[in-house]
Amino acid sequence: MKAVVATERDNLAVVDVDLDPPRTGEVRVRMMATGVCHSDLSILNGTIPSAFPVVLGHEGAGVVEEVGEGVSHVRPGDHVVLSFIPQCGECFHCVHDEPYLCSVAPNEGNQLDGTTRVHRDGEDVRVMSFLGNMAEQAVVPGICVVPIDRDIPFQAAALVGCGVTTGVGAAIKTAAVRPGSTVAVVGCGGVGLSVIQGCRIAGAKQIIAVDLSAEKMEMARTFGATDTTTPGGHALREIMAMTGGVGVDYAFEVIGLPATIETCVKVARRGGTAVLVGVGRAEERFSVNSLILPLTSKTIRGCMYGSVNFKVDFPMYLDLYRRGLLDLDGMVTRTYALDEAPQAFEDLERGVNARGVILHG
Ligand code: APR
Ligand code: ZN
Repeated sequence: MKAVVATERDNLAVVDVDLDPPRTGEVRVRMMATGVCHSDLSILNGTIPSAFPVVLGHEGAGVVEEVGEGVSHVRPGDHVVLSFIPQCGECFHCVHDEPYLCSVAPNEGNQLDGTTRVHRDGEDVRVMSFLGNMAEQAVVPGICVVPIDRDIPFQAAALVGCGVTTGVGAAIKTAAVRPGSTVAVVGCGGVGLSVIQGCRIAGAKQIIAVDLSAEKMEMARTFGATDTTTPGGHALREIMAMTGGVGVDYAFEVIGLPATIETCVKVARRGGTAVLVGVGRAEERFSVNSLILPLTSKTIRGCMYGSVNFKVDFPMYLDLYRRGLLDLDGMVTRTYALDEAPQAFEDLERGVNARGVILHG
């Protein structure tokens, strides 16, 4: 079968690979739609450390083809969304109501048992985040597979696997934005636009979008932003001015850059919260002076996967979609065939899409 493989850093290829059948607890899924997320690019360009070769893809929906022994929650023919974090239900974090931090297995590009089902010319190929679903099919841990209703279009469902859950969840779960809040969202890609939607759903009264691209800010307005401003030194002044000198209740950073993280900490009001969603490079540092947190009582909060509990939240997001409260169709700016993956990554780097989605078959 065909798969999009990062063969080495900065080198992407659509290649033929062999896929083993699912082992105990695993599921083989025929992919229908795979979102192209900045984290895929971050694996490819080394921002997120990874060994190579690795099959990319961690946001997707498809149809179950085969289940391994011991899998009972899905059957062949079921429509499913994949979660890039398993939920074992038994580790410290799962039992403490933090399943998005499930620690059942190290996320080192393999199945839960540390081996991979993907091979190329007899050599092992890793998979991104237990999934590697930028491929015609994927064998994945059963505890990453979430059944969904059949009436949901696959390209909308796919987005729930990462970007939408991360972004909407950052707003309504991690930050728990309250009605009437003021927020700033710095970085309006697929994830940032989802943060904006989450803030809109939560009833925020002022949603200030910040992005380098004028196009993205236009999109931000269609998803619920009430104000926009461009980044750089004046963003800080403008956001303060727009909030009567107070700052925002919540400032979301959705890029992963030290400068924009620092902006978010600054524009969060006294007693407010900066929520860090974007994933930056491990060697980079942001700085906050030692006085600021105690004297202003601000909080800096990390957000992993929108604090998701996927058994509850994936169906909840799809229900919001069905009821017209969460716009998933509008997030898909362009679709691609699997062979067009290099183009999809180029477009992601140029920042032209809210989300690009690969449609299979
Ligand atoms: N200031 C403002 N906006 C910026 C800047 C900057 N310095 N640099 C980039 N941007 C904007 C881009 O114009 C783009 O609209 O940030 C946005 C990033 O969007 P995408 O590339 O679509 O990324 P996305 O998939 O939304 O992921 C964002 O969240 O989950 C993490 O790993 C992911 O760190 C990534 C982040
Ligand atoms: Zn992602």
